[in-house]
Amino acid sequence: MIVCVCHNVSEKKIQRAYDAGMTTFAAIRDNLEVGTCCGKCAGCARQVLRDCAQQT
Ligand code: FES
Repeated sequence: MIVCVCHNVSEKKIQRAYDAGMTTFAAIRDNLEVGTCCGKCAGCARQVLRDCAQQT
């Protein structure tokens, strides 16, 4: 599933980033540009991070 349409960032890409140590929204924003255009994906991206945190 695509989370950030503006930058074509999928849920999987965020999960991989999380596994690589980018565990905060600020980290994925800075590295993947999630939420830096229209900003509509921010809530969804945070939810993906929360789901990742629960799985570890
Ligand atoms: Fe992510 Fe627009 S959908 S910044």
